[in-house]
Order: sequence, then C-alpha cells, then structure tokens
Amino acid sequence: MKKWWMEAIGYQIYIKSFKDGNNDGIGDLKGITDKLDYLHLLGVNLIWITPFYDSPMDDNGYDVRDYFKVADCYGSIDDFKILLSKAKKLNIKVILDFVLNHTSDEHNWFLESRKSKNNPYRDYYIWQKPKVIDGMNHPPTNWGSFFGGSAWKYDEITNEYYMKIFSDKMPDLNWKNDKVIESMIDIGKWWLDLGIDGFRLDAVSHLSKAPFEDSKFSNDIVLDWFKFSNLPNNHTYLNKMYEGLFKPYDVFTIGEVGGQASIDEAIKYSAFKSNELSMVFNFDHNWHNNIHDILDLKDLKVNVLALKETLNKWQETFKKIGWLPLNWLNHDQPRLVSHYGNQNYHNESAKMLATIMYLSRGTPFIYQGEEIGMTNFPFNDLSQIDDISTLNSVKNQISKNPDNSQAIIDKALMTTRDHPRTMMQWDDTKFAGFSEVKPWFHVNPNYKIINVKDQMNDSSSIWSYYQKLFSLRRFSKYSNTLIYGTYEMIHKDDPNLFIYLRKSDNEKILVMGSFSSQNQSFDTSNYPILEVIIQNYDDISIENQIINLRPYESISYKVKEQK
Ligand code: GLC
Ligand code: CA
Repeated sequence: MKKWWMEAIGYQIYIKSFKDGNNDGIGDLKGITDKLDYLHLLGVNLIWITPFYDSPMDDNGYDVRDYFKVADCYGSIDDFKILLSKAKKLNIKVILDFVLNHTSDEHNWFLESRKSKNNPYRDYYIWQKPKVIDGMNHPPTNWGSFFGGSAWKYDEITNEYYMKIFSDKMPDLNWKNDKVIESMIDIGKWWLDLGIDGFRLDAVSHLSKAPFEDSKFSNDIVLDWFKFSNLPNNHTYLNKMYEGLFKPYDVFTIGEVGGQASIDEAIKYSAFKSNELSMVFNFDHNWHNNIHDILDLKDLKVNVLALKETLNKWQETFKKIGWLPLNWLNHDQPRLVSHYGNQNYHNESAKMLATIMYLSRGTPFIYQGEEIGMTNFPFNDLSQIDDISTLNSVKNQISKNPDNSQAIIDKALMTTRDHPRTMMQWDDTKFAGFSEVKPWFHVNPNYKIINVKDQMNDSSSIWSYYQKLFSLRRFSKYSNTLIYGTYEMIHKDDPNLFIYLRKSDNEKILVMGSFSSQNQSFDTSNYPILEVIIQNYDDISIENQIINLRPYESISYKVKEQK
C-alpha cells in the first residue's frame, strides 16, 4: 500500500507561539501563512496546526467554545482560507487538531446541558448524582483528572457532577450519545469541505469511560488511566467517525493515543485493515531518561537501551501491518535536545537524534523549533508558568504535601509543558523575530545564538541538516528505500549506539547514531561502506574497517553488497 501521507514530512505548529502576523504578541493564522514558504524550503509538506477555534483559552485552545469559528486572537475564517490556498499552491497538506473528547464549559452545548436535567443537550455530557456519605456530597467516584484533582466537578444548578478528565473548564462529551457523534461528523465535514486534508485527533483514547465505580488503586482521588483509556467502545466510536467522515472523504487521520496504549490497542486503531485511523501517536518512547528521579538537570541520563527497545518494538510490530509517525516530542513535552541530547554537543546531538528518528520507517513529524535545536527554558519560579496542567497539578500536590512544596515546584519546572511553548526563534532581533511587541509568553534568552535566520545561512547548521534529511527522503535516489524499505535494528544490546538497516530489493542503507560523549567504535566488516549518505561530522574516522565514532556522531551509508 502506498499513500501520500507515507511520503510526507510533517511539521507541528503550536499556533500561539509560532509567528505573530499582526503584532499583538500572539501567534496567529496570518503568521503561519507568512511562514509557509519557509516550511516549504525546509522540505515540509504536511502541517498539523494546534487548535485555533474560538475558545476561552483555559488550555490554549484545547477547550473549544465554537468549532465553526476562529478565535479572534488567531484571525478569521478568511485568514484560514488564505492560508489554505497558499498551502495548496506549495503542495503543503493541512490537518487540523480535532478535539473530540471534551469542549469548553462555555460551548453552547454545555451551557444548555447544565441548565436542567431534561434539557435536550443534557446527554451531550456526562452527569452523575453526588455520592452522599454522612449527609455530605462527594464526587460520584474517586477518579482523578490528568491535570490534578478530581475528574468530576460539582454543578449547583442541578445538584450533579459533570465529568472532566482535564480541567474544570473542559467537560467531557458523552460518546454514548449518537447525537454527539453526529455533531462531530458535521463539524468535521464543514472543515473538510473547506479543503483541509485530515485531522490530528486530540486525546482520542479517552472517549469511552468505564462504569462509574471507584478505582481500587487508592481510597483517595487517584488518576486511574484504565477508567478512561482505550476501552473497547472507543473503537466503536472511532469506527463510526470513520464510516461517517474519514472514509467518505478519504482523509488522513492521526490519533493521539496516550493512556498507556498497548501496542495491541494501537493495532486496532491504526493497522492498514483497521477501519478507524491512519496512524497513532503514542508516548511510549517519550520518557526514557531519569528526569523524574533527579533534582539537577546536569544529572540527566538517557536510558538508551530502553529507548532502543521501545522504538524497535513499535517498528517490529507495525512492519507489515501498518504505518507509524516518527516523532520525538510535541507541545506537551520537554524540548528534544534538552531531553535526549547533550547541551555540550548541541549541534552533534541534535543532528544525531534527527537522523535515527527520521530515517526510520514511517512519517516524520517534527515540532516547531526542533529544526534549529531549540532548548528548554531556564524556568526558576512558578510565577513564570502559564500551563494550566502544571499549575493545577502543583497546587494539588502541595495541598497534600505542604512541607515539600519547593521540591514539588522544582520538579514541575523541569518537566512543564511550557518548555516547548516559548516563542519560535526566527532571528536575533528583539523578541526573536516572533513579534514586534512583547509576546504573550517568554522568549528563550538563547535566541541570539539559536535562531532560524543564522542557521539558514549556515550549511553546517542543524537547520541545514534537517533540510538535507528531508530532501533525502523526498527527492533522492534513496527515497524509495528510505520510505518503503524494511527496518531492522542491529546490535540491539549496545548501550551507546543506535543502529538499523533499511532495505529494499536492490539496496541496503545503514543508519547509525551514538548517544555517547565518549568515543565508540563500530566494525563495518559485515556492512562495508559503499557510499555515505549523510553524516554529522565533516569526515569519517575509519581504520581497518573500524569506524571511530566521536561524541554523538551519526553516519548513514549505503552498504556494499558482498559477494
Ligand atoms: C492533548 C493535548 C494537550 C491537551 C489535552 C486536552 O493531550 O496534546 O495539549 O491539554 O489533549 O485537550
Ligand atoms: Ca497576532
């Protein structure tokens, strides 16, 4: 099977921080349109834009108030049409972030729903009576929410609780109600009729909820993923979306399936023969370092073996039956070089990480700023934080453990979802070229040394390397092998080197990257070098067929067939 999206290079745009087109300090649609030529030059031909629907912005737009309207701060529907028509001219496909699990509490459906128990929209959401213990109201179950606290919120008007597995302002929709599904299909059609190419489906593993019984994990409020992740009905719901929307429009869909999606679940969602989604983003490989156990970032260590094992497991499982996105991190996780690279080898480690991920089998999805090796922000105080999930969860943890508040805050500052949300660093002028006025959120102070403009003018930059990688996939004589060839990891037990082969009928390509700041060696006698395809040092240090790999070195080459 061959599809356009298997051959694409995807790029995730976090709209609020990407580019301010009208100089009010907030990224917007016009800003994206202005940068489409830039993305085209980088080699990107598929963009995923995070939500820009009308929203009170409790969670930067993932709380949708009106799916048919563009948020004023991001522009207008006409701005979107302009974006789309320019994207079409450049052959860039556009997918939207479709939020299915919840809406804003200011969405009209919810405003109606909370009015009375017999309102026609009541069943659009999940309402339950309080659990009364000793005459006191309690949430119906002890389920915790992702952002901290209970997954239920009391509403006085009808004396019931509504479910909200994210923030209080994000009530969960009731997918048992077919009208919800029909409404979502209508929304999807409306956007597809404008000419978009598909969707990234937000939080899509959580649509179905378990029966409302307490979690056994604790007597207290506890986040129990199993109560609302990857339950069997989820597949029924997505199949309805598929039949009613994705299939008739033949569109590309990529689901965000957090919630400890086992590979078996991922197969059900996205194998070629599944009638649900084209692919899924999973998070299995996102935390293979010791970040949760350390107090100082200088102690950060990547668990290379675990990372290799996880990535290989997904590749192995999907090799004949489906397709994977190739992505490191997104707008909810730390920055790539800070998380898996090494600041002392900023350039080398950024390029190495790009190599091993984006020459694998699947569709690359890079996150804005990754192409220049943007880093985490040096947060040192909670007052610098904007993200609702960080703020809620810190508040919640401190309320349970006040003596530990400093440690709780320090930890949160290391992993907060705000790291990837600082402004895109376009150049070395004030505010990093993001805007002419002070942006809504921080600019990383390193923008004078890490920015797009400088790197585009430097053939040895991270940016130029990404461009070369993408062009290898899309336009080179190796394209077919790099896109459709098989994937086979070798030297699985090596704790420093990540090595695999991509093979097609007539060609074998070896891709290798070192995660070490010490020299490593690799014996090429079984895989002699015919032609180097891409490397992150200027030359190769090889003697008697043994390559000496310098810190974070990566090399990809065509293997000479042996007689
Ligand atoms: C997804 C998004 C995240 C958002 C959440 C709720 O996980 O990636 O940013 O907060 O869904 O919509
Ligand atoms: Ca703006």
